[in-house]
Amino acid sequence: QKSGYKHFMLKEIAEEDESVRNTIQSRISENGKILLDDEISIDKGFIKNIDRITIVACGTSFYAGLTAKPILEKYTGVKVDVEIGSEFRYYNYIYSKNNLFIAISQSGETADTKEPLRMAKEKGIKTLSIVNVKESAIARMADSCIYTLAGPEISVASTKAFVSQLAVLYMLAFYVGQIKGKQIEKKAKMLLSIPKLIKTTFNNTVEAAKKLAEEYHRYKNFLYLGRGLCYPLALEGALKLKEISYIHAEGYPAGEMKHGPIALIDENTPTVVVAHSKEPLYSKSLSNCEEIKSRDGKIILISDKQADIVDETIKMPEVDYELLPFIYVVPLQLFAYYMALFLGYDIDQPRNLAKSVTVE
Ligand code: F6R
Repeated sequence: QKSGYKHFMLKEIAEEDESVRNTIQSRISENGKILLDDEISIDKGFIKNIDRITIVACGTSFYAGLTAKPILEKYTGVKVDVEIGSEFRYYNYIYSKNNLFIAISQSGETADTKEPLRMAKEKGIKTLSIVNVKESAIARMADSCIYTLAGPEISVASTKAFVSQLAVLYMLAFYVGQIKGKQIEKKAKMLLSIPKLIKTTFNNTVEAAKKLAEEYHRYKNFLYLGRGLCYPLALEGALKLKEISYIHAEGYPAGEMKHGPIALIDENTPTVVVAHSKEPLYSKSLSNCEEIKSRDGKIILISDKQADIVDETIKMPEVDYELLPFIYVVPLQLFAYYMALFLGYDIDQPRNLAKSVTVE
């Protein structure tokens, strides 16, 4: 049921705070301990000695993995590879000695994620899945499954599953860190404050995203840029726009702009820049904005800080840098939603797409 919303997609974006709350509340204690022992049956001795994590997924689930990669590396202290399912299955991946394999899937039925999981199991690799649909194939196949408790996601474009996957990946990073004796409690406690912040972000940005979409929905090409934790969000923002509004959008790491995509920029190609003022390379993202401006490109900035050089800003609430993906993705999803709305498309059932891709 759409509960008064025009589309499932908008309803599901509005539910993101609840989805994350349900996913974390019984798994993080008040004093910041991660309570995943019952769900992860993999031996603690193994977890202590993990020397690499390999994440395989497709589409938005892949971007969740890419977003969480630096967080996982920081708190687990091991190298993390994030791989696309359809490539991984035909690639001779060299596992390390104590490799943990993680499959991420909302539906739990994606063929291109399922096959790599089967292959990893066949090689005797320890496997874990992060899945939203109970008792789905990918949930059942892995040695352990940590469910995202996002609730049913009906809209083809994935939204609340993404933030819930992030929540599980962050908890997993902290869990492994905890087993290795790292101080993770402070960050884990901060994660508990995220649902409220997602709600605030939704309320503060929904009208701005709509207004921007009204103004920008006739453009045919968009560039999305970000650095660090904002880079995978640029990819996800561009994917959302492509899927439901059929507008060509490319996501890039901002520093890569000068190596090619800058040639696209003119007054007809707006750029969405995602930048948190506390990120180490914030000033470099602003330099990118100057380069865009000097080529007459329009800029939509998603940031906690206004910048004079840009045309539009979606002002974000203050958030700890490492936790920004949970809230910075919200206006990106809302912008794509309203773009498709103004263009009059079938938002919950975009052309050529299915909710669950069970064929190769
Ligand atoms: C994007 C989208 C797809 C899925 C992808 C993986 O909005 O819906 O890109 O994310 O097909 O699906 P799951 O997560 O079910 O394996």
